Amino acid sequence: MPLIRPAETRDLTAITEIYADAVVNSKATWDEVAPDLQSMTAVYAARTAAGFPYFVAEATEGRIIGYVGGSAFHPQTGWRYAIEDSIYVAKGAQRQGIGRSLLEALIEEATARGFRQMIAGISMPGGERSVAFHEALGFRMVGEFKDAGWKQGEWLTAVYMQRALGEGAASAPLPPPDRAAPKN
Ligand SMILES: CC(C)(COP(=O)(O)OP(=O)(O)OC[C@H]1O[C@@H](n2cnc3c(N)ncnc32)[C@H](O)[C@@H]1OP(=O)(O)O)[C@@H](O)C(=O)NCCC(=O)NCCS
Repeated sequence: MPLIRPAETRDLTAITEIYADAVVNSKATWDEVAPDLQSMTAVYAARTAAGFPYFVAEATEGRIIGYVGGSAFHPQTGWRYAIEDSIYVAKGAQRQGIGRSLLEALIEEATARGFRQMIAGISMPGGERSVAFHEALGFRMVGEFKDAGWKQGEWLTAVYMQRALGEGAASAPLPPPDRAAPKN
């Protein structure tokens, strides 16, 4: 199995390439133009500075073959205990347990940082395996925005899944609600 470790700035070239493949060759993300290294670096820097974890999967020879990152679901401060995951495993490395290891790492670290709910937005059609994957990691379906997206000549529906972290809503957030407002 690859090493799962926190992402570092030096990983951004590989992360940019993995994401670009998903932008150009799939509808998993509704970005239509692949962001360049500079903009991916800016997004990573802003999210990690706001307290969102990022992890990479590093193969034995040092190649980055997948990543997962957290971000705010909405920027308003009341959302500060919710985190949205974005996860991409390189083609050729999928269905080997790497996505599971990455998302488990994000869930564990997000829980430790005080987040209480994790949200996944998945594009349909085409996202069936991501739905199965998130179900395997404890997410349940909560709703959809039908035909809300347009990409590559097709209307797309965003389905949303969610899972509680730690005590979820069973207690008030601890430590007291003093986390900085998350910003994307
Ligand atoms: C979705 C994705 C992250 C899953 O990562 P992965 O490394 O391929 O998944 P894993 O091997 O860790 O699978 C864990 C479990 O998820 C489920 N799962 C994963 N891929 C599946 C598939 N194609 N069909 C059905 N179930 C699947 C299974 O329950 C699997 O456990 P099992 O292999 O023991 O049966 C990966 O396929 C990917 O990067 N896809 C393209 C980008 C994308 O869709 N990202 C998500 C955007 S929301």
